[in-house]
Amino acid sequence: MPVKPIRIVPSILSADFACLRDEMAMCEQGGADWIHVDVMDGQFVPNLTFGAKVIDAVRRCTRLPIDVHLMVEHPESYLEDFAQAGATGLTIHAEATVHLQRNLAQIRSLGCRAGVALNPATPLDAIVEATDDIDLLLIMTVNPGFGGQKFIPASVDKIRRARRLLDESRCNADLEIDGGVSRDTILQCRRAGADAFVAGHAIFAATNPSAEIGALRIAATEVA
Ligand code: DX5
Ligand code: ZN
Repeated sequence: MPVKPIRIVPSILSADFACLRDEMAMCEQGGADWIHVDVMDGQFVPNLTFGAKVIDAVRRCTRLPIDVHLMVEHPESYLEDFAQAGATGLTIHAEATVHLQRNLAQIRSLGCRAGVALNPATPLDAIVEATDDIDLLLIMTVNPGFGGQKFIPASVDKIRRARRLLDESRCNADLEIDGGVSRDTILQCRRAGADAFVAGHAIFAATNPSAEIGALRIAATEVA
């Protein structure tokens, strides 16, 4: 499969919600490719964040694609509402459903890009039978639930194997990573074959968040 361009994807989990519009403008100005919205239900992960109302608010603040990451049990209950609220892509966890193929087909039928996320301990086998049904594979590089965690080094080999699986299946899905992405960790993940890089803490806690988006893109770029 052809190598895709680097996509830098700020996660609004670390944004200042008192000024969401300014935060979205900052992301656009910095050259962000998509906006990542982390939905947590306090069940699948031990934390609670936001739902359709916030996706709708983000939609009204930016024209960038909205990449929604559902860390929830029973993801099928939310798909329609989130699509209507303006999500561009909906990524569900393989661990959260026994009807993965059905849920992915539903996401596509709603006009959204269908994504599957895998926790660090979930083997790639979980998606081997579903490669025709996915537009994005998200490899979690931390255990989901919180921003600002440390990147799990063993993820790099998993990204490499995920790249191989997608290529061998002739699956053109985006390969996204999420958790602990920083200037220090991004290049090894790009080399392993990832093309979309979610970053929360690294961007929003930076002295100059807008410039950090460009800095991450440069850090991920192979020097010939
Ligand atoms: C973690 C979330 C991430 C989180 C990443 O459960 O899925 O999207 O915002 O945050 P950082 O980049 O701070 O690790
Ligand atoms: Zn996420």
